Amino acid sequence: MGAVKTKAAVMWQSTGNFEITELELDPPRQGEVLVRYDYAGLCHSDEHLRHGDLVIQPPMVGGHEGSGVVEEVGPGVTHVKPGDHFISSWMPQCGRCRFCLMGKSNLCDNGAFLMQGTMLDGTQRLHARGKGMGGVDLLGTFSQWNVIPDSSLVVIEPDVPLDVVVIAACGVPTGWGSAVYAAGTRPGDTAVIYGIGGIGINAVQGAAHAGAEMIVAVDPVEFKREMALKLGATHAFASAAEAHEYVWSETRGQGADACIITVGVVEPQVVTDAFALVRKGGTVVVTALANPDTKLAIPSLELTLYEKRLVGSLFGSGSPHLDIKKIVRLYQKGQLRLDELITNRYPLADVNRGYDDLLAGKNIRGVLTIDH
Ligand SMILES: NC(=O)c1ccc[n+]([C@@H]2O[C@H](COP(=O)([O-])OP(=O)(O)OC[C@H]3O[C@@H](n4cnc5c(N)ncnc54)[C@H](O)[C@@H]3O)[C@@H](O)[C@H]2O)c1
Ligand SMILES: [Zn+2]
Ligand SMILES: [Zn+2]
Repeated sequence: MGAVKTKAAVMWQSTGNFEITELELDPPRQGEVLVRYDYAGLCHSDEHLRHGDLVIQPPMVGGHEGSGVVEEVGPGVTHVKPGDHFISSWMPQCGRCRFCLMGKSNLCDNGAFLMQGTMLDGTQRLHARGKGMGGVDLLGTFSQWNVIPDSSLVVIEPDVPLDVVVIAACGVPTGWGSAVYAAGTRPGDTAVIYGIGGIGINAVQGAAHAGAEMIVAVDPVEFKREMALKLGATHAFASAAEAHEYVWSETRGQGADACIITVGVVEPQVVTDAFALVRKGGTVVVTALANPDTKLAIPSLELTLYEKRLVGSLFGSGSPHLDIKKIVRLYQKGQLRLDELITNRYPLADVNRGYDDLLAGKNIRGVLTIDH
């Protein structure tokens, strides 16, 4: 196809709005693929760029939830071909490092490249205003086209609706895995989920899937609580204090088996609250991101004497390629609801409005429909 021009949402400063910019896109090199993005999900992790909670070296193209079609493959690419439909994997897993070999490809050493703004060989394919740039997670899904590593593509069958499964790129498996893998939810458990956005709603679905008896959703926004109750939560409260009172009383002072934190930005208080609510030997999962300066405060004695567990979770502690496919299958079998999670759709040009809506509590998930 030669060089391509693409419109993309670019962070030109380290904070502030995305700016729609026309970029020059070089052809794919060794192990790379030229893709057309048709849909992109508005995960809060890209909102962190606008407010400086994730620090980048601008310029950078935003977006790490994407779905679309393969246009062209570079030299040495054998497992995808033009015309293939795909969902993006935020981790271009190498398959060879210690973490990939341990079955923890969410922690692959290629993670070092995720926010670097280059391809895996250190060079860049996107150019504008005399500058080169890369995309978030080497994906930059807020773009009509992009060149990405072949290991960033999860190929799916052509009959899977790309406009829906786009959220299986990050939000759905991250939330679902936070409950199923990271919290290890078991039948009969009590799970409390703080923050019902694109991640938290799937922690609710995951906890339900794993057989939790009591699933308590906490969110200050009423519409979020209503959605949680529709998708498997047994109770919903506007504040951590109300949830605490209810769970404490229902479990006769034992506490929750798991507390899962999927709020927009982690403040120390929500973790302290969750840590107080888990039972002896219970697990607090922190999936949400925080400002780099945030330090958590938990009582050290409870950690030891009550064997409470405080764990971080990246991508719900799942493996991107395996779990994205798993989520698609569960959706196709009707065991996981995805259509209902997409609240509003926007053109690429309205990406900032989409994020304003996210902050205003209007969306479970917003999705960009990208025209070409
Ligand atoms: N660890 C990972 O792999 C991973 C992956 C994706 C996203 N994330 C992070 O997960 C978090 C959630 O992402 P999202 O896209 O679902 O965001 P979102 O903005 O759609 O949802 C966050 C929700 O939290 C609620 N909330 C805010 N403060 C709260 C509080 N104190 N108590 C209860 N609820 C509260 C908001 O009303 C909102 O409904 C973000 O920090 C995001 O960066 C982490
Ligand atoms: Zn995400
Ligand atoms: Zn690896």
